[in-house]
Amino acid sequence: MRRDRTFLASTPFTRSDYASIVQTTYPGAHDGDYRSRVKALVAQAEASWPACPRFSYTEQEHGNWSLVSQILILLQDRYSCAPFLHGRELLQLSLDTIPQLDDVSARMESITGFMLAPVGGLLDKGEFLAMLAQKVMRCTPYIRHPSYPFFTPEPDIIHELRGHAPMFLHPEFVEMSVRIGRAAGRAVETGDQKMLDLIGLFYWYTVEYGLVKQDGEVKIFGAGNNGGIQDLLRSIDPTIEHRPFSLDAVRDLSIDYDAPQDLFFVAESFEQVLDYADQLVTAAHA
Ligand SMILES: [Fe+2]
Repeated sequence: MRRDRTFLASTPFTRSDYASIVQTTYPGAHDGDYRSRVKALVAQAEASWPACPRFSYTEQEHGNWSLVSQILILLQDRYSCAPFLHGRELLQLSLDTIPQLDDVSARMESITGFMLAPVGGLLDKGEFLAMLAQKVMRCTPYIRHPSYPFFTPEPDIIHELRGHAPMFLHPEFVEMSVRIGRAAGRAVETGDQKMLDLIGLFYWYTVEYGLVKQDGEVKIFGAGNNGGIQDLLRSIDPTIEHRPFSLDAVRDLSIDYDAPQDLFFVAESFEQVLDYADQLVTAAHA
């Protein structure tokens, strides 16, 4: 059953050009035609807000999706954790064409009530996390630059649908997201920047780039490493550092949103991640 989106009308669309990538060597940052295409898709989404429009993608964009998808599927089969693969199975995303955000959202809504809504770029951390409490994840509708489809420093539709979406088919993961969202909303309300930063670090090193032990093996849990070939390979590369996950282990770290990750955290289990989320929620409301 579809959710009514009118409650989103009071939330700004928040169109952002994600200016920090202009400082990077990412080819998509400096290609004028590509930036215009990104802007056009974002403008379409903004004009339809809070509804989600049907996006019309080019043959090249579908080809980009297909190339990355075929490689990712094989790597995920071998390296991703069981809850992710189960969610992927339920979603059945096309290998050949970019799915419509709205169709994927409809599938999720019918199973866990979670909703996808478009966004124009990177949102403020508090705003993005707090929307999870309403069972909403904001997703970019555009796709990474075709010259190097193996890595993107900015979130794109591959990251959102191939990386994030499968986990939102799990009721426990959705419940954790809601609770984290409430804790973030509370931190924003009370001006507790330290708590908001800690929630952001928890999210980054679990939901975005986490690894998790499963039957004695380290498996991929995060959306960044599940949804990007280079990030996936780096996260299982034995020359790249792994550390055991805990809140204290990430508390004082900083995040470089643009660069490939040099450090990954391994949770003992999915349950351990849920326990740490509960600790954060309790601390935010203390
Ligand atoms: Fe993400």
